[in-house]
Amino acid sequence: MKLIFAIRLLYYSCFVSGIVSSGSERRTQTVLSYLENDVVSSPPSSAKPLMVGLTLIQGAASKGAVCLDGTLPGYHLHPGSGSGSSSWLIQLEGGGWCNTIRNCVYRKTTRRGSSNYMEKQLPFTGILSNKAEENPDFFNWNRVKLRYCDGASFSGDSQNEAAQLNFRGQKIWLAAMEELMSKGMKKANQALLSGCSAGGLASIIHCDEFQELFPQSTKVKCLSDAGLFLDAVDVSGGHTLRNMFGGVVSLQEVQKNLPSTCLNHLDPTSCFFPQNLVANVKTPLFLLNAAYDAWQVQASLAPPSADPNGLWSDCKSNHAHCNSSQIQFFQDFRNQILNAIKDFSGSSQNGLFINSCFAHCQSERQDTWFADDSPLLRNKPIALSVGDWFFDREGVKAIDCAYPCDNTCHNLVLNDDSSATGSGSGPDSGSEFTSAMIYSQSIRLTFTHIYMLCIFLLPITCS
Ligand SMILES: *[C@@H]1O[C@H](CO)[C@@H](O)[C@H](O)[C@H]1NC(C)=O
Repeated sequence: MKLIFAIRLLYYSCFVSGIVSSGSERRTQTVLSYLENDVVSSPPSSAKPLMVGLTLIQGAASKGAVCLDGTLPGYHLHPGSGSGSSSWLIQLEGGGWCNTIRNCVYRKTTRRGSSNYMEKQLPFTGILSNKAEENPDFFNWNRVKLRYCDGASFSGDSQNEAAQLNFRGQKIWLAAMEELMSKGMKKANQALLSGCSAGGLASIIHCDEFQELFPQSTKVKCLSDAGLFLDAVDVSGGHTLRNMFGGVVSLQEVQKNLPSTCLNHLDPTSCFFPQNLVANVKTPLFLLNAAYDAWQVQASLAPPSADPNGLWSDCKSNHAHCNSSQIQFFQDFRNQILNAIKDFSGSSQNGLFINSCFAHCQSERQDTWFADDSPLLRNKPIALSVGDWFFDREGVKAIDCAYPCDNTCHNLVLNDDSSATGSGSGPDSGSEFTSAMIYSQSIRLTFTHIYMLCIFLLPITCS
């Protein structure tokens, strides 16, 4: 009797500690929009992160591989050392898309459309960190961040002369791979293509092409972080994301570079959605995604255009403010995600980490990738889950139970208070998607130890 009571108590504690949330720790200003900028930048950490300089790809212009505004594309490379010197990690930068002439023209005046505006140095954190204690499996690899300046997940190939727009994502991808091969990647004995958000979608689209760069003897895998963009119905019954993707695909002629295995039975826009691609990727692929992806909640499911009266504003900005029917809407979304990856997860070479968090991009931030309190599934943080899968130490197919059962989440909370954003002034950063983002975290404190017990006891109480 006492044992059962104790288990009940623990179960209850798990439940409650999952709901209680939020002491905001950090505020970053960001134009979320289809530019979703600083969502991925890391919170200040005690250790100074490694800063890595930008290299422009000099040979790219002659190949027509240029950013939206015609400037050279670029990347940041930190060379590997010791046992990692023949291993290569390529991280494709994310940052939304542009789907109209107007917002592509605006993008030319940002770092997402022109190397003139790119940071000359970027911090290498999370999966890019050079410290074993922050990045246990990849810290001494050659690590590359390829900058994103085409607006179509490195996959478009067209132009608009009237607006002086270059849509050369596919050419940028190819020119970058050629450059890195010449810098030693052709001798790689193992390689991982990763990317987050729009870069996570790109890592799915380019995964098999990446594998084909190497001989069969090279161990090649791909990681898509927050790239599982779902063709979902929004809160007003519309198809916000599909409409936007449709613009990206037609404007930038993305269909030229999408797989025929999809195009032979679906329209090009559908073939830009990972749900129609992942099962046919031949190379081992790991999908890391929050089940309630914060960007999709904000920009695809409940964007202002689908919620003109702002009924979702509170809930969207902080999931703790959602009522039961709103939570149910998110649960349906989670179910659609799980449905979309059913065939994919049947393949033993693939990996999964789908945690029930309101997060976005968990591999680039140190706090979510590998830290004392980083998110866990089956008691394992993301860095070790990805490492175990890459090195075949253990199969990893981790799917969280539904919200609110996970109290290890680092949730992103949005603040819609437009007065907090001083930077929104371009056509793409106006009212619709300008938000300040607050980083918050579910309260864990003393619940940590209870949580550990819960991991072991929940299956017993549920079965
Ligand atoms: C939850 O909020 C939405 C939006 O305000 C509203 O339409 C719905 O009726 C509410 N549901 C419940 C169960 O209160």
